[in-house]
Amino acid sequence: MQCLEIIGGSRLRGTVPISGAKNAALPIMAASILTDGETVLHNVPDLADVRLMLTILERLGVKSERDGNGTIRLRVEDEMNVHAAYDLVSKMRASVCVLGPLLARRKRAQVSMPGGCSIGDRPIGLHIDGLEALGAEYELVNGDVLMRCKKLTGRDIFLGGPFGSSVTATANVLMAATLAEGRTLIESAACEPEIVDLAEYLNKCGAQIKGHGTPAITIDGVDKLTGAEHRVLPDRIEAGTFVIAAAITNGDLELEHARIEHLRAVVELLRRVGVIVERSEKGLVVSSSRRLEPVTMTTQPFPGFPTDLQAQAMALLCLADGNSMITEKIFPDRFLHVAELNRMGARIRKEGPTVIVEGVKKLIGAPVMASDLRASAALILAGLVAKGTTRMQRVYHIDRGYERIEEKLVAVGANIRRVDV
Ligand code: EPU
Repeated sequence: MQCLEIIGGSRLRGTVPISGAKNAALPIMAASILTDGETVLHNVPDLADVRLMLTILERLGVKSERDGNGTIRLRVEDEMNVHAAYDLVSKMRASVCVLGPLLARRKRAQVSMPGGCSIGDRPIGLHIDGLEALGAEYELVNGDVLMRCKKLTGRDIFLGGPFGSSVTATANVLMAATLAEGRTLIESAACEPEIVDLAEYLNKCGAQIKGHGTPAITIDGVDKLTGAEHRVLPDRIEAGTFVIAAAITNGDLELEHARIEHLRAVVELLRRVGVIVERSEKGLVVSSSRRLEPVTMTTQPFPGFPTDLQAQAMALLCLADGNSMITEKIFPDRFLHVAELNRMGARIRKEGPTVIVEGVKKLIGAPVMASDLRASAALILAGLVAKGTTRMQRVYHIDRGYERIEEKLVAVGANIRRVDV
C-alpha cells in the first residue's frame, strides 16, 4: 500500500504548469460516441479517471490511441455494445456521461445506476427526466438505467434541481440533443466552463449549439456529427488548489495556463482572506501575506465558489485569524475531511451543511485518511504547512484527478514523496 508523506514547513516558489481539465475531458471523450470520424483531443491529463473512461469507451466499441504527450485519438469502430456495466461505472460517476451519447446514436443505452459516494447522495433523476423529455423510455433493470428510443425530438427542457443546475445532466441532455430532430432549449443549464468546452468540441463536429455558458442553451439537431480536433481547457480546480497551496505556505507561485476568468469567485474570496491573485503573461500569479483574515463563504454553481475547492479552502481557513463559516450548497454532506483536519489540530465544528472553522496558530502533522479526491487535496495542503510529518493514506483518490501532483509540488519546493507502507 502506498501513502503520501509530507513534511510541512516549505514555502512554495516557482512555476506550476496546469494540466487539462478532468471534468471537461471526460464528457468530451464520451461525446466521441456520437461521431462518425476521428476525434483528436490534446491536453488530456494522464489520470486514473481518464484511463477508466478509455476502458469504458473501448468496451463500447470506441478505439483509442494515446501518444504519452496528452493527445488521445478516438474513433468508433463497433456500435453493437450499449452497456456500461457496474464493475466500471461504480468506480467513477462520470461514466454516466455515456448515457446521452449512446441513446442518441445507438437508440439504446444501458448504464449502471451510480450509487451514492463519499461526498453524499448523487442522484441522476435530472439526466433521466431530460432524456425522457426528448422522447426516450426509461426502465430500471438489475440496477441498470435502460433507456430506449425510436428517435429523439427537440423540446424545451427545464433542468433545475433542488440544488440548482446539474453539470453532467446538462452534458448528457446537450449531447443527446445534438442528434435529435428539431430544436431543444435547455433552461437552468449548468454554466460551468467544462460545459462550454464540451459545446465547443461538439460545434467543431458540426453540432448547432448556442448559448453555452449561459443558463439557456439552444441546440438545433443535425443528422450526423464528424470527429474534430480539440484542445481541452485548463483545469480550474487544479489551478485553484495550487492558488491555495501558495496561500497556505505563504509562497509565491505562477500558474502557467490557468485562466483567471474561470476563477473569479476564488480570486475574490482569497482577496478577502489577504491573498493576491493576478493575471500574468503565462496564466496567473499568487502571492500571500502572512496574516489570513477569516471569511464567510458559500459554495455555488459557476460562477460561484466551486464545491470542488471547498475542502481546500477549509484547510486554508484553519489558519485564519478568527472564525470562518463555510456553507456547502451543492453537496451538503461533503465534509468527511473535517474529522481528518481536526486530527491535525484544526478546530472545525459541523452544523448541518455549514461548518465553523475556528482559526488556530498551527496545524500538526498526523497520519490521515483521504475520503475523496478533493478531500485528499485539502489534506495535502494542510500537510504542506503542518509542523512535522503527515502521512496520507488512500492515495488512489488523488490520482483520479491531479496529474503528477507530487512532481509538481516538489518542483516548487515542497517536501512530499510517495512511500510504500
Ligand atoms: N442533482 C440532483 N439530481 C440530479 C443530478 C444532480 O438533484 O439528477 C444535484 C446533486 O445532488 C448536487 C447538485 O445537483 O446537489 C449538483 O450536482 P451535479 O449534477 O452538477 O454534479 P455532477 O455533474 O455529478 C460534476 C463534477 C463534480 C462536481 C459537481 C459540482 C464531473 C465529472 N463531476 O458532478 O466533480 O463536484 O459537478 O460542480 O464534472 C470532482 O471533480 O471531484 C467532482 C466531484
